[in-house]
Amino acid sequence: MTAPGWRRDLFALPDLVYLDGNSLGALPRTVADRVAAVVEDEWGRGLIGSWNHVPGSSSGWIDLVDRCARLLAPLLGVDAADVHVGESTSQSLFATTVAGARMRPDRRVLVVDRSTFPTDAYVVSSVARLLDLEVRWCEGPGDDGGVAALEAVLDDDVALVSLTHVDFRTGAMFDLPAVAAAIHQHGALAQWDLCHSTGAMPVDLAAAGADLAVGCTYKYLNAGPGSPAYAWVAPHLQADLDPPVAGWMGHASPFAMRLDHEPRTGVGRLRVGTPPVLALSALEAALGVFSGVTTAELRAASLQLTGRFLAHVDTLAARFPDEQVALVTPRAHHRRGSQVSFRHPHAYGLVQALIARGVVGDFRDPDIARFGFAPLYTTLDDVDRAAAALAEVLESRAYADPAYAERNAVT
Ligand SMILES: Cc1ncc(COP(=O)(O)O)c(C=O)c1O
Repeated sequence: MTAPGWRRDLFALPDLVYLDGNSLGALPRTVADRVAAVVEDEWGRGLIGSWNHVPGSSSGWIDLVDRCARLLAPLLGVDAADVHVGESTSQSLFATTVAGARMRPDRRVLVVDRSTFPTDAYVVSSVARLLDLEVRWCEGPGDDGGVAALEAVLDDDVALVSLTHVDFRTGAMFDLPAVAAAIHQHGALAQWDLCHSTGAMPVDLAAAGADLAVGCTYKYLNAGPGSPAYAWVAPHLQADLDPPVAGWMGHASPFAMRLDHEPRTGVGRLRVGTPPVLALSALEAALGVFSGVTTAELRAASLQLTGRFLAHVDTLAARFPDEQVALVTPRAHHRRGSQVSFRHPHAYGLVQALIARGVVGDFRDPDIARFGFAPLYTTLDDVDRAAAALAEVLESRAYADPAYAERNAVT
């Protein structure tokens, strides 16, 4: 079995236990060189010519979207031709939610889970306002993978169900194929936010019967702060794909400069404006670290890491019963993503005290301490060092230090 952290050498990591790769992934070494080359050579010297292929250079910017899609596709279990890359997660979600609702014009309801990341809820609500639909809430994945939660709200008036695969607070995970099957029984579309999944586990969208999906690339895919998101649309839906923004890059012949909009075929319709070349170049280089890695290997390493940390948390909760450490991540392997979270009355101070000790996790309102395990660069030794620091913080109650009370703008 592959040892967790087996590609750590490919990352430029400082001497920290970095357990926040589910918020911002670490920097792959190749990215800095690639971005410098794109800026200095391709843009600086190649100028406008770099949109096309310049012999001896990695330019050809016009193909970057497709090149990134080719690298992402195996991590999603789909064909590259069905993947678009370039907008933010929120914008992609808006596009696919509108497009999905338009594929079920006789239905009035959009369903979203209460455990979702807030942007998903805002997007679904704004699409409902725009298209005069109704929002219906369902519970999160819970302990059973979410089928019961979905069955409680599904009926034949539901156009689309938009779910976040892995709960960003607790790490609990929807059973994607089972939930998609329940949604399809009512003729609705299943849309997935994979921000906390891709790069840490198989998602196998095509085999699981998903319809639409989006996800970011700055967490487990390590493409840098604000890097472009991807969107996937099942092939059988693409003929009806009618996204809300028709930009020139989504035109079948953008350089014909015609005023009538003739959409590209397939997911190319999701293209809007000029692609973000610097960010896509960083993404392309970042995805190189997954070369030769299978999603099964990622999952196996992730489960070793989360399983070990979870056991440490259980041990510490028993050792310090007054501390009220309450695990919120499912213990069952197949029900959790690649993070471990627990509640603590002083979770904010606790996370700050850990950071001061070189263990970087993060805090989620109101009382959750959250630790992400990026399988490519996190080691079992990191897990043990984090647990030792946590024991020391609980024992000393360092979390109550007033120095840790003041909150940063980004927590
Ligand atoms: C599940 C999930 N969806 C969406 C987002 C954010 O979307 P965007 O990339 O548009 O900022 C996040 C950010 O952490 C997230 O965790």
